[in-house]
Amino acid sequence: MRLIDHSPSADDIKSIGGLYKESFGKAWKEKSIWETLSVPGTFAMLDEKGLCIFRMVLDEAEIFYIGVPEPHRKQGIASRILQEAIKFLKEKAVNKIFLEVSEENEPAINFYRKAGFGVIGKRAGYYKEGVAALNMALAVE
Ligand SMILES: CC(C)(COP(=O)(O)OP(=O)(O)OC[C@H]1O[C@@H](n2cnc3c(N)ncnc32)[C@H](O)[C@@H]1OP(=O)(O)O)[C@@H](O)C(=O)NCCC(=O)NCCS
Repeated sequence: MRLIDHSPSADDIKSIGGLYKESFGKAWKEKSIWETLSVPGTFAMLDEKGLCIFRMVLDEAEIFYIGVPEPHRKQGIASRILQEAIKFLKEKAVNKIFLEVSEENEPAINFYRKAGFGVIGKRAGYYKEGVAALNMALAVE
């Protein structure tokens, strides 16, 4: 497991791009990965089978993406990566973690609930297809 910060190497960007494409079924342009990670407080936690991208601001953090390519799912990989990210954030004195997830993404909602996240709100029409987002949060203990 590796933590990549705001100075990723070209190889790091390639690894992130590859894992993202295999997990989400669409490309994330290299330039856009650079731009996202270059914002201070933004990190990628990854191993060869999955990734989590998150940003920390003061004592709060937001998870942008977590993804595992289909052949490796349901083996606890995302759980392991998320727990490493939470551990890191706890060490940085983060006490609340937020995220948004499509209300139609049942695997992800279940995944986050199992990790202790609760639903704190809903944003109607948040995604471009008019699908709502659930706002979820975890108090870091
Ligand atoms: C959501 C995702 C990251 C889960 O990854 P994973 O490595 O398969 O998750 P884990 O094996 O750690 O699963 C942990 C728990 O999550 C829940 N879960 C995971 N996949 C699930 C599914 N397909 N259906 C229902 N619950 C699911 C279960 O409670 C599971 O615990 P269990 O195995 O004891 O039943 C993965 O399905 C994925 O990459 N999806 C596509 C990208 C995405 O939608 N990301 C989230 C939004 S950014």
